Amino acid sequence: MSEVQSVKYAVEDGVGVITIDNPPVNALGPGVREGIMQALANGNADPAVRSFVLIGTGRNFMAGADIRQFGGARPVSTRTSAAAIAASAKPVVAALHGYALGGGLEHALACHYRVAARNVRVGLPEVSLGIVPAGGGTQRLTRLIGPKAALEVIVSGRHVEASEALRLGILDEIVEDADLRAAAVQYALRAAEVRPLPSAQGDVLKPLPADELAALFEAARKSLSRKSRHLKAPLHALALVEAATSMSFDDGVALEQKLFEELENTDEAKALRYAFFAEREAAKIPGTSGLAQPEPVRSAAIVGGGTMGGGIAMAFADSGIEVKVLDMSQEALERGLKRIRDNYAVSVKRGSITQAQMDERLAKIRGVTDYAGIGDCDAVIEAVFERVELKQEVFAKLDEVMKPGALLLTNSSAIDIDVMAKATRRPEDVAGAHFFAPANVMKLCEVVRGSATRIQTIARTMKMARDLGKVGAVAGSCDGFAANRSRTPMMTEMMLMLEEGALPEQIDRIMVAFGYPMGPFAVNDMSGLDVSYEGRKRRAAADPEYRKLHIPDRMVEMGRRGQKTGAGWYRYAEGDRTPHPDDVVKQVIAEVANEFGIAQRTFSDDEILQRALFASVNEACRILEEGKAYRASDIDVMWLYGFGFPRHRGGLMYWADSVGTPAILAQVRQWHERYGKRWKPSALLERIAASGGRLRDAVPPQ
Ligand code: 3HC
Repeated sequence: MSEVQSVKYAVEDGVGVITIDNPPVNALGPGVREGIMQALANGNADPAVRSFVLIGTGRNFMAGADIRQFGGARPVSTRTSAAAIAASAKPVVAALHGYALGGGLEHALACHYRVAARNVRVGLPEVSLGIVPAGGGTQRLTRLIGPKAALEVIVSGRHVEASEALRLGILDEIVEDADLRAAAVQYALRAAEVRPLPSAQGDVLKPLPADELAALFEAARKSLSRKSRHLKAPLHALALVEAATSMSFDDGVALEQKLFEELENTDEAKALRYAFFAEREAAKIPGTSGLAQPEPVRSAAIVGGGTMGGGIAMAFADSGIEVKVLDMSQEALERGLKRIRDNYAVSVKRGSITQAQMDERLAKIRGVTDYAGIGDCDAVIEAVFERVELKQEVFAKLDEVMKPGALLLTNSSAIDIDVMAKATRRPEDVAGAHFFAPANVMKLCEVVRGSATRIQTIARTMKMARDLGKVGAVAGSCDGFAANRSRTPMMTEMMLMLEEGALPEQIDRIMVAFGYPMGPFAVNDMSGLDVSYEGRKRRAAADPEYRKLHIPDRMVEMGRRGQKTGAGWYRYAEGDRTPHPDDVVKQVIAEVANEFGIAQRTFSDDEILQRALFASVNEACRILEEGKAYRASDIDVMWLYGFGFPRHRGGLMYWADSVGTPAILAQVRQWHERYGKRWKPSALLERIAASGGRLRDAVPPQ
């Protein structure tokens, strides 16, 4: 047995077994590509070896190139090691399990055969990192499964499960046997003498007629220039699939390499790499090393079957976790359960789930009208109306009925966790699990720590979020926590710019041009203008200096609550969600400006963007200063997954670094002079601007 760094090689029954052993995910780190090539050379020179198996240890086959190495030198490229596999005189069988992604799948595609365990997930997710595959993946996959399927898989970057991968032709066989390695060795022995060796470098196996092919690429190009208009990588990926249908394999691979190099160090790719690691960093909770792994939540209850509660219940059911929905009256409960059924029915109609999946998910959800019915659940999430007394009542009740050790969670979006914790005799088990609407769709779960919350409670809630397929990020308790608190100033400035004469459609246009999928006013019309109304009233009552937002208040008072009332910031035709600018809004602006003597003026696009986002950057700095977030990158994760901040800009703080803290500070100071206290520069912003450091690396003062 020879050993080259993280690749092990052993001969077993005449089969050279090449094992990738590079924890945690078998990325193609230093030495892996070289190790594979060395093992192949050894085996091809060894008469005792008839064929090879390429397999990974641990949970995955291979997760692809080492993302940390991008931007730096790579002694051997994935293209080269994949080519060495394809050129092997003796057949190579890839034995896949867990994830086989990016360069991992590219190595498998270069093999002559692919067998896999049932749990395999394959894909070329490079576009989500702002790059294209560079190990021949676009050329081989297109030849293997045809341009139509390859285009969809490569441009979406999605993970493909075993049975679909088999149907598409990515896999040759699914091994039901528990011992993948043994089954792959047997497969390799059967394949040893079969010639010619199959290859994914020749003709396209599932070609399309020329006119269909042209139509396929034209339609895809059109759709991408709309949906991914800010991104280069998906269009480059498309060009590569097209190249696979018109160029020789070698020319296609050369083009792949060229486009990869063009993308590797773009701002887009750097921001997307940052976002990848920021998300993983957010999962790390200081103070938990050495503690036992948190127990999973196997059953949950939701108190309140309204829109939010129903969405959270769906998130549990979608992940196969039993969930009870508690509402006080049978009528309210029925209404809530009907909303859930209707939502699933829409998904079935759209084809995103099957009827059988809908039935399976609905079977996980049970309605109850009595607290006694939820006491045995591992976790409970309160999702009742945002009123302090009501929440305290609910928590006192939960304290009575929930089993010891259960997580007592609130979905409050702003109220101090301690207020709820104090209503119980177990404040250590109380935390926030703040979901974002629609809760079954939006990926962020902001986990909020009260002053008495045990760190184990936070760790278990984070695990729960992950098991729900959410991205968890921790915040400290304060009004609005970290996500909404950092976003509120942006929304406030937008409302105040309206008072000075900006229009919702103008601000929306600028934010969409920046990269948001929808403008904030159009989003507000969807979620309802009334949602933040109560919160503003509460803040105004608590703080005599609170700057009232007259325009949105007036809109709510006029009954313009958004799409649900046919009008909000825009007007909507019956049954149509297309927003139409509305002169009534202009009138409200004129009335307010007149009443309060606010001068009207025009705004440049830059001023609108900066005034909105700089206000939030300054607040995010205050949040960090006060220790209400563990790290700046957690706030970025919240913006990416909770608010649809354009991912190719990395996140709020990452974007701020690209503008430069001295420039931001100078502008914040000017607005401080002009608009007063709410623009007071945060000490952290001042410190970082003076030191030349980066906001994205900021952590709270120790
Ligand atoms: N490179 C470097 N580190 C990686 C990595 C990679 N490709 N994939 C995962 N990691 C690290 C993570 O940062 C994390 O490190 P940490 O513990 O220090 O935070 C650790 O591995 C575990 O990762 P996850 O927490 O994400 O583990 P999961 O089990 O939840 O998910 C996964 C596993 C689905 C493989 C996920 O990690 C993933 O999506 N990885 C990236 C896959 C990818 O994009 N591959 C393509 C790379 S580009 C490429 O191959 C180019 C080629 O064409 C030349």
